Amino acid sequence: MLTYARLGQMLGIDLYVKRDDLFPTPGGGNKGRKIGYIAEHARSSGADALVTTGGAQSNHAREVALAAAARGWRCRLILHGDPADLQRPQGNLMLMLLAGAEVEIVSPEQISGRMAVAMARFAEEGHSPYEIPGGGHTIEGAQAYVDACAEVVAQCEAQSWLPDVVIHASGTGTTQAGLVVGFRSLGLTTQVIGVSVARRNPRGATIVRNMVEALAHHGRLSCSTELVEFRHDWVGAGYGQADSRVLSAIGFAAETEGLILDPTYTGKAFLALMDLVRLGEIAKGTRVLFWHTGGLLNLMASDAFNGGWSE
Ligand SMILES: Cc1ncc(COP(=O)(O)O)c(C=O)c1O
Repeated sequence: MLTYARLGQMLGIDLYVKRDDLFPTPGGGNKGRKIGYIAEHARSSGADALVTTGGAQSNHAREVALAAAARGWRCRLILHGDPADLQRPQGNLMLMLLAGAEVEIVSPEQISGRMAVAMARFAEEGHSPYEIPGGGHTIEGAQAYVDACAEVVAQCEAQSWLPDVVIHASGTGTTQAGLVVGFRSLGLTTQVIGVSVARRNPRGATIVRNMVEALAHHGRLSCSTELVEFRHDWVGAGYGQADSRVLSAIGFAAETEGLILDPTYTGKAFLALMDLVRLGEIAKGTRVLFWHTGGLLNLMASDAFNGGWSE
């Protein structure tokens, strides 16, 4: 966790950033933090092969491929996107292939059928396959973020600082559910704002609330689902679509203090932070923790900044 004094000063807030983009797996990010817990659950269930799904630039699918390679397991990824990407892999897709994952790119309607085939084939070949839902949306993945709260609070206490507000990019909602339950279980009233990168409400918030309930039940904790703030105002044209305001926010963070964000996830979350401060919903002087969930490989594989660089 690092302080970003110049960015904070320009925004008028007291800003720290939790650098999960530096989580120590190749590409890092929240999916790196989640996969350790998910793979451990797979191992304890006797698995020796993993099957999952996601987009061709999915951070989750990349982490699953790397986790399987690290354990000497087979891995099959049923991805959606353009099959031609396999001829010129970039970013996450390149790492999935380098890690030896068997990759299929299919249309969204084919995913569940192809996942079932992949599971059946592994079993026929004598493996014990384990299916991971897209995005790592599991109790174990969410638990990783409950535990991450204890980590961050220890780091905060070492700096005599505690956030009033945590803000981050939210997709499947696993990370958000973990953070909501995690801060509550430590007895803190920290506000957690999840900025949607794709889903709209009420569906988006309902999915996060369901995970909060499941997680609280799993850990025998009490946590109100009322605490879930899933904001869809910065989704724009949808998943992976960054408008000019998102790109400006990315440029602002990079130029002001070398904080690198991406157009699919963290750029939207940072723009939300800037807007919420500008609109007064986050008051000046508030202690804000921006939880950086990764995405550098998405930035590197993106063409969002194509079309020129003006002075
Ligand atoms: C970089 C990054 N940030 C945030 C998210 C959202 O995480 P979650 O699915 O746990 O809500 C994702 C999900 O793909 C991601 O890759």
